Amino acid sequence: MKSHLLAWSLIVCCCCSAQTTRNAMVVSAKKEASDIGAQVMKDGGNAFDAMIATQLALAVAYPYAGNISGGGFMVYRLANGQTGTLDFRETAPKAAHRDMFLDTNGNVIQGKSTETALSVGVPGSVAAIFDVHAAFGTIPIKKLFGPAILLARNGIVLSEKDIEHIRQNQADIIRLNGDKTLYAQGYQTGDVVKFHALAKTLERIAKYGRSEFYEGETAKKLIAFLNRKGGVMTVSDLKHYKTKWRDPIVFDYKDLRIVTMGPPSSGGVCLAQIFAMISPYDLRDLGHNSEKYVQLLTEAERRSYADRNHFLGDPDFTHVPVKQITEGEYLKQRMRSFSFDKATASSEVSHGNIAFSESDETTHYSIVDQFGNAVSVTTTLNGAYGSKIYCDELGFFLNNEMDDFSAKSGVPNYFGLTGSKANAIAPGKRMLSSMTPTIVEKDKQLYMVLGTPGGSTIITSVLQTILNVSEFGMGMQQAVDAKRLHHQWLPDIVLSEPGALTVEQVKSLTAKGYKIDERTFSIIGKVDAILIRPDGTKEAGADKRGNDAAAGF
Ligand code: DON
Repeated sequence: MKSHLLAWSLIVCCCCSAQTTRNAMVVSAKKEASDIGAQVMKDGGNAFDAMIATQLALAVAYPYAGNISGGGFMVYRLANGQTGTLDFRETAPKAAHRDMFLDTNGNVIQGKSTETALSVGVPGSVAAIFDVHAAFGTIPIKKLFGPAILLARNGIVLSEKDIEHIRQNQADIIRLNGDKTLYAQGYQTGDVVKFHALAKTLERIAKYGRSEFYEGETAKKLIAFLNRKGGVMTVSDLKHYKTKWRDPIVFDYKDLRIVTMGPPSSGGVCLAQIFAMISPYDLRDLGHNSEKYVQLLTEAERRSYADRNHFLGDPDFTHVPVKQITEGEYLKQRMRSFSFDKATASSEVSHGNIAFSESDETTHYSIVDQFGNAVSVTTTLNGAYGSKIYCDELGFFLNNEMDDFSAKSGVPNYFGLTGSKANAIAPGKRMLSSMTPTIVEKDKQLYMVLGTPGGSTIITSVLQTILNVSEFGMGMQQAVDAKRLHHQWLPDIVLSEPGALTVEQVKSLTAKGYKIDERTFSIIGKVDAILIRPDGTKEAGADKRGNDAAAGF
């Protein structure tokens, strides 16, 4: 790795600290991963080669969410303007069934869908790496595995944030894995952790290919491990896992064309709905994070998330009426009850109730290469370190993506999201997601590449970042830095990052019937984005809420 070279070609603006490059850029949750992705492009690879190397590097450097044992979505745009998506979402194992997380009285068993071997969905990330390579890769795949293997062998230096993540989750990790597990140790900032088991696993996958993970030694070890822990996944489940190339959701907002992820992610549909519902208003006139702006976004979000709950699920299992619920007249009707005078109660839109938990436990990376291709990937284990079940033999955490299904109609999941029949558990089905990797075009040219973790807050964080640039003229770093708000229909609460609203605004919104919560989340989303400026330079938006970093040349 020649990362010092990369640092030289990343220009930092002295007045606004925006980072720019001329040719290619990666923005991800970890400097190590961004450097590796950028180096691949410097060596002549394209954005897809860089995607593979970055995904693998994050699996090493950011085990909190980076993974080879989770899933995600990729939205891409080729230099010639062609767009598409890859769905590498996890699936429910064959032995999964609708009521698997319920007790005999039909009540949801606390923790069963989040921290047991039954919470693990059949992983899609390794399949994605090989499918992306087969479709678009230009560098031999073994070479693309190289930097991540080296990183795992040499180890990563733990940052303060890494230590914070480990400490927050260590008690659970030890409870689930015993005190001999890699993550049971008393790490300090600056310690180097080496991942020998993961390095070996990656080496085998690099050598034998996709089948190593889905049928080979890794598959057998993984399934034996999960079965010892009470799981039901089989080698046959792994063997039958397939990614899906799907058409993106594409819609226009004023002079922008937005290309984003469709079902089984709810991201694109909700984004299309919210943009359409706010489009009749002059947002610039309302003002960024003004009282009226917050009301408008909240009311559009409320209505969209109510639809999400009811209509959305895996399109291969349930009819998702995408066309009808993103259609102009339908959305106009949805906003008929909106007034700036007072909040619409979520109970008037529909009903339910719940609690939240803070989350930035997914990860997103954005890539633009020197040829003009763009890749936007959001990938996750779902919770922090997924299920927190760690396979020491193979060197990775397992996802707990099964919690994204609706275990029981109307009962909220980890992110407070409720669901209906459309998102009920079924064998082989993909659980509904909020992940929203997105690409924005302006005047038919590549304009933005963005996405974020944040569970249910992903969609609204992507929305606000696009609006910050397109409506309020912010640069990408400024747009990412700006304080965010969020509403998701249920619970009927406006979540606000501390400082997003003034004391007067909170008072006034409260008087209109909005419940403002500035305490539950200290951060909303962690956006990693790239803006293409009119002169072709790429500006990074690397979220300072984390250790996120840009690299490029
Ligand atoms: O697919 C989803 O919507 C969730 N599994 C994403 C989880 C997530 O973003 C966690 N981090 N905040």
